[in-house]
Amino acid sequence: MNGIEDFLLEKARKTEQALEGYFASWNGAPAELAEPMRYSLFAGGKRLRPGLVLGAAMLVGGDDESALPAACAMEMIHTYSLIHDDLPSMDDDDLRRGRPTCHKAYGEAMAILAGDALLTMAFDVAAQTGDAAIVREIAHAAGVEGMVGGQVIDLMSEDKPLTVDALRRLHSYKTGALIRGSVRCGAMLGGANAEQLAALTAYGERIGLAFQIADDILNVTGAEADMGKPVGSDEAHHKSTYPALLGLEEARRLAGEQVASAIVALDGFGAEGETFRDLARYVVERRK
Ligand code: IPE
Ligand code: IPE
Ligand code: MG
Ligand code: MG
Repeated sequence: MNGIEDFLLEKARKTEQALEGYFASWNGAPAELAEPMRYSLFAGGKRLRPGLVLGAAMLVGGDDESALPAACAMEMIHTYSLIHDDLPSMDDDDLRRGRPTCHKAYGEAMAILAGDALLTMAFDVAAQTGDAAIVREIAHAAGVEGMVGGQVIDLMSEDKPLTVDALRRLHSYKTGALIRGSVRCGAMLGGANAEQLAALTAYGERIGLAFQIADDILNVTGAEADMGKPVGSDEAHHKSTYPALLGLEEARRLAGEQVASAIVALDGFGAEGETFRDLARYVVERRK
């Protein structure tokens, strides 16, 4: 797995450099706001979504340079989603990315506003691609039929357990949409043709589902020190998860099935697709 971890690290470094650049462009930002934004954004996340944006661009012959604004925008939206997800009115969690959650460190009001500002900033940055299709892609991934819609279904499911089909929809909105959108933005910015875009869309959808199943499994079997967030909290939240509904073994099998079909989606890419094949395996083999 070393190769793929090195790939993600290299892309993470580039993304973080670009993110720093966006923060450095302000003159009058209130420190009370900039600090919690930075606190959560530069807290050592895996940077999976930027890795997918940049990796997809590379796979279709594009470069990091033109894909970086979308990579940064996706990470900003992802980070805002985590800040708000951890709030007392949502999952009420105290630990994220190995440190106290944003609201624990800065209070609830500043955490809400830091999330709002990261979301807003993401669209400023996305617009720098000069490509309205990219801005819309990100909006769809983040919005009503994407992450926010998924969070709503997730909260509703605390009162009534979901069927496996409904759980799949929840995952495809809550987590899958940003992952799929990241792959699609990279492909579009890299100049993918229609066939490549369709293949990568299928790939993104499948690893998105595998990623959330793996997250639910790690929330049962993982170590808090690796995960940087509370382990076992899903039961406390009465969440519907694959391990809870189907058992660990069946959840692992389903995640593996998604990875295998993600790899099949890359058939047309030949040897060039190897990094993304490794990335699909990494999604379920990771420990954090
Ligand atoms: C965690 O996402 C939340 C989910 C969408 C399951 P990641 O596991 O990608 O979190 P970071 O970015 O590495 O902290
Ligand atoms: C977080 O979802 C993912 C989003 C914010 C969309 P969860 O609540 O399931 O994940 P963790 O366990 O807090 O990371
Ligand atoms: Mg949640
Ligand atoms: Mg949560």
